Amino acid sequence: MKSITIKKAQSLRGEITVPGDKSISHRAIMLGSIAEGDTTIRGLLKGEDNMATLKAFRQMGVRIDEHENGVVAIQGKGLHGLKEPEDFIDAGNSGTTMRLLTGLLSGQGFFSVLTGDQYLRKRPMKRVVEPLSLMGARIFGRENGNKAPLAIVGSKLKGITYNSPVASAQVKSAVLLAGLSADGVTTVTEPIISRDHTERMLAYFGAEVKRSGATVSIKGGQKLVGKEIEVPGDISSAAFFMVAALITKDSELLIKNVGINPTRTGVVDILKAMGGDLKIVNQREISGEPVGDILVKSSKLKSVEIKGDIIPRAIDELPVVAVAAAFADGITEIRDAKELRVKESDRIGTMATHLKELGIQVTEFDDGMDILGGRPKPPPQGAIFNSHGDHRVAMSMLVAGLATDKAVQVFDTDCIDTSFPGFMELLEGVKKT
Ligand code: S3P
Repeated sequence: MKSITIKKAQSLRGEITVPGDKSISHRAIMLGSIAEGDTTIRGLLKGEDNMATLKAFRQMGVRIDEHENGVVAIQGKGLHGLKEPEDFIDAGNSGTTMRLLTGLLSGQGFFSVLTGDQYLRKRPMKRVVEPLSLMGARIFGRENGNKAPLAIVGSKLKGITYNSPVASAQVKSAVLLAGLSADGVTTVTEPIISRDHTERMLAYFGAEVKRSGATVSIKGGQKLVGKEIEVPGDISSAAFFMVAALITKDSELLIKNVGINPTRTGVVDILKAMGGDLKIVNQREISGEPVGDILVKSSKLKSVEIKGDIIPRAIDELPVVAVAAAFADGITEIRDAKELRVKESDRIGTMATHLKELGIQVTEFDDGMDILGGRPKPPPQGAIFNSHGDHRVAMSMLVAGLATDKAVQVFDTDCIDTSFPGFMELLEGVKKT
């Protein structure tokens, strides 16, 4: 099992770009495949999660060429042009691949089976199976349809009006993608708006999408038309460098070309509220998504309350925000974040345990934690962590290691490649020791 040992940095300085946005990359492959005509994608994230999506569409007969200059070209087949995959589709570690494909494949005229790795097979699928079944989907799985492998018997679907009990872009997107091939209109309302990349990209591909607050509707039978897409850098990946620069002395990083969609920028708001010196500059729009550069400098951090509407806007960044809290004065309270329990790992449990090993006082709650910050006091021999197969936990603890006095070793770090290939190389490139 691979491990990484990291030692304290004197400072972090330089200009970097992080790899493409994972959520946008998944959607670009999916919509490009079911659009009519050609789609070219620049800046696609080639992490394992996105490659699982790409492979799935190849299995369904879509021609996808990866050119040497990084451009990915898709010959779209149209909504009804996919073919029945000959074997099961393996989503690997990727919840987005599994849940969005479950939606998309529910309305296809063929049979398909989706599975994933040991972690994904433990995650709840009922949240998509339930609304899709209301649309007429026939989906079978372990534990009464809640766990993968999922077997999907493609069916004729009808539009529904669905009030989702969770703020989840994966649930919303699964229902909307099913809605594309359903009769009539499909409407989804969320308790709090989650990331809206699917809505934006459907519109970018020429579909009519109606939106009002946390409600979105789509009429079935609409045609998507192939487009050129540029994927911005992933703010979830940039977040590791934001926190790294904030907690490391004498640091200044310019993170260029980052997606700053307002449904994703909770981390910037939280870190600013903690006293972080962060600025978004050079704002522009690319392929229907807002983009900017983020300038971040070392800062003295203070505690904050993180709860309510900001949670879905920062959901994937909460592990690294917990690291920032460990270096901040006072008690940071994270609440309303029960969703963290069903991510790639139980991120409340894993982060609370790890921060305690660094000598930080943490009180765990069902939906969050209290973190009493200050200077972490790692054990004299250094600290050793297990990622639990969770890329964001692995990278969060490596970031913590940049500012702790003893070396930090993280085990099971292969998972970093699911979302951030080249993470360590990029970090070493800006690290001054
Ligand atoms: C994602 C949605 C979020 C997020 C995940 C990616 C997406 O999950 O945590 O990393 O691309 O739609 P939920 O929909 O479960 O909140």
